[in-house]
Amino acid sequence: MYNAQRLSIKVHSQTSSAAAQVQLMGSTSKGYTLMEQCRVSSLWNAMKSTSHRTNRRRFLGALGAGSLVAAFIPWKTTFAQVQAGAINAASTEPIDGVFALPPLPYNYAALEPHIDTLTMSIHHGAHHHSYVRNLNTALAGYPDVQGRSVVDLLYHINDIPEAIRTTVRHNGGGHLNHSIFWATMGPGGGGQPVGTLATAINATFGSFESFQQQLSDAASRQFGSGWGWLVLDGNGNLAIVARPNQDSPVMDGLAPLVGVDVWEHAYYLKYQNKRGDYLSAWWNTINWEAVALRYDQARNF
Ligand SMILES: [Fe+2]
Repeated sequence: MYNAQRLSIKVHSQTSSAAAQVQLMGSTSKGYTLMEQCRVSSLWNAMKSTSHRTNRRRFLGALGAGSLVAAFIPWKTTFAQVQAGAINAASTEPIDGVFALPPLPYNYAALEPHIDTLTMSIHHGAHHHSYVRNLNTALAGYPDVQGRSVVDLLYHINDIPEAIRTTVRHNGGGHLNHSIFWATMGPGGGGQPVGTLATAINATFGSFESFQQQLSDAASRQFGSGWGWLVLDGNGNLAIVARPNQDSPVMDGLAPLVGVDVWEHAYYLKYQNKRGDYLSAWWNTINWEAVALRYDQARNF
């Protein structure tokens, strides 16, 4: 049966092949090129055409797949930058299991001076890597839930076997949150959105500056580790939320559009205890084109 869960596996399979291709430096006969990887968008379109699921499941499935689609869009990057980012990602040890660490669509140094190279390297290559590895390990003994997308796992977290529920919540959330985080940043980022997203932000929050202040405040006030998010609810309204640990907004039926990681591992090497300085710098990394794509996908789904 063709459904969103199986689609997610296909997308992840493409991701694994991409990493394998880079590791083998073109010696694989499968030979996915970067441009071919962009064809995951065709899977996205196929998912839109299915009619087996409820609107909410489609809404959330769109954002989960969308994050991975967006991760392969070479926005404002050269091919060399994309390739270098993929090589960095592929340099980590292989991960066995259903889910794969998505390669960065840019180099670890690409977000300098706002986010430093060492932080990016450890954050993606070690922290995100661990979330994926731990998620796969947890699911290994539970074949009934292995065929489900990470969005589906999190949205139905209370239906996950109790023995692995907390592990899936933490590490599945970590995998999804970070996948969105990487895909919505990029070199030469910052500025302001345009088009329908800009109109919606202005209508909801009064101005871009007000939105910026409210999201920064939410992320700044998050006690301990967590995230600040701009989300879209099932009625098409924008909102700002904060979540602790790796809890994902999808657990509450909210579609995450762009979020900022306020775990100390995201900023402490460069900013130490100055979370506010990190938040100010983060605004200069946002890939608003990727965020607008996520918004349009969620809004039109
Ligand atoms: Fe993180």
